[in-house]
Amino acid sequence: MSAVIANRSQPPGAAAARPSQGLSALLRNTQALDPLTPVDSVADSMLDSRYAGLLSLPVVRGDEPIGTISRYEMMRVFLMRFGRELYGHRAIETLANRNALILAIDTPIDEAARLIAERIQSPITDDFILVDSGGRYLGTGVVLDVLRAMDASLAERSSELERAYARLKSSQLQLVQSEKMASLGQMVAGLVHEINTPLGYVRNNVEMTRNTLGDAGRLLGAYEAIHRSLFEESVEPPADLPDRLAEAAELRRRVDESALIDIGELLDDSLHGLGQIAELVDNLKNFSRLDQGLLQKADLNQLVASALRIVQHVMRKRDIEVIFQNGELPEIPCAPAQINQVLLNLLNNAAQAIEHEHGRITVRTQLMGARVLVLVEDNGKGIEQKHLERIFDPFFTTKEVGKGTGLGLSIAHQIVTRHNGLLRVVSRPGVGTRFLLALPVAAREVRT
Ligand SMILES: Nc1ncnc2c1ncn2[C@@H]1O[C@H](COP(=O)(O)OP(=O)(O)OP(=O)(O)O)[C@@H](O)[C@H]1O
Ligand SMILES: [Mg+2]
Repeated sequence: MSAVIANRSQPPGAAAARPSQGLSALLRNTQALDPLTPVDSVADSMLDSRYAGLLSLPVVRGDEPIGTISRYEMMRVFLMRFGRELYGHRAIETLANRNALILAIDTPIDEAARLIAERIQSPITDDFILVDSGGRYLGTGVVLDVLRAMDASLAERSSELERAYARLKSSQLQLVQSEKMASLGQMVAGLVHEINTPLGYVRNNVEMTRNTLGDAGRLLGAYEAIHRSLFEESVEPPADLPDRLAEAAELRRRVDESALIDIGELLDDSLHGLGQIAELVDNLKNFSRLDQGLLQKADLNQLVASALRIVQHVMRKRDIEVIFQNGELPEIPCAPAQINQVLLNLLNNAAQAIEHEHGRITVRTQLMGARVLVLVEDNGKGIEQKHLERIFDPFFTTKEVGKGTGLGLSIAHQIVTRHNGLLRVVSRPGVGTRFLLALPVAAREVRT
């Protein structure tokens, strides 16, 4: 009895088959061997070129699979002394592997791959049999086809992963950008507040100076009028001289010496206020220049001082005492705007953690070995143990909706990592929290 028909060398669906799909795309229409077929004739059939892709042939009674007969098994028998003579006339079922892998056609490809991997042995000697839901023979499946399908799907998954990674990266960049804008907005709000205070008293001083100078001008006018009436208008003193003198005396009383001294002080104050405003504007200019994220040499003490200036109105409003102990530091290469962002996040978090009336935030800087350290310590409510390991996770926040995005620390952590630095925390609930920021004095490479 001849053995095989319609054996396609490669099923069309092999590469396109999806792992979650069933095995129908990999089905090969292999005509099964009757269990009684003589071994000899099976050996001849195995040389048929249409069989080329199969490691083993299915042995089926009616439509019930009995097992498989592999080329390997045939070789083993025929290599035996008198093997062909001894076995050639026997029925193939005597040599069939009755433990062959039989899979239902709707078995997902990845499940099939798992089952194959479980049984696989070296050398690989068998393919597998495919049956319908009733266990009836449908055809064969080839181990190599399953591997190809898995490979194609792995390649697809990895390119999917790459695409997802690229998307994630760009959305992360957007987040960093929006956080930057938020801190810029916050800084501008802080600066506006800071500028308003000196602006208020400079305006006040200028108004007072104008009033005093107005009186002084009128006094001069009065004196000039008296002078003219006494020396130019007539020989006789004019009749209204007493009135004029009284008016001059009144004006003289208002513009006394102390008022003129006051003007000097008011102008000094105003100059001071204008100096403050100029400094704040300078800060703003610097900040926007720094915001390009460029790597430059920066003095961390100056960055801390500028961050403290930005948050000082918040601290004052909340009555939080801020102590800055600055150690001597070398300039370090960094992206100052980004470090500023980190410092602002730490200071804001510290301020927000303080819920009592004796708030204190201490910022210390120091040089330690090849690192510059900034310690930000608060006596706020602290961080619970179970939250400690999550505070650097994006979107982790314990603040009420609308108050915190939970991005501050995760972005700070990213920035610090890109600077090859460290951001660490120790905290005791009810006592306070200390963040340690360490940046290398000589950055190997900063990816800003
Ligand atoms: N100094 C601190 N004291 C107590 N808890 C803190 C402190 N710093 C951070 N945390 C905790 O870590 C969480 C995450 O902080 P993170 O800065 O990432 O986000 P957030 O402050 O909640 O929101 P956002 O920074 O976007 O306004 C905070 O919600 C808070 O629970
Ligand atoms: Mg925060």
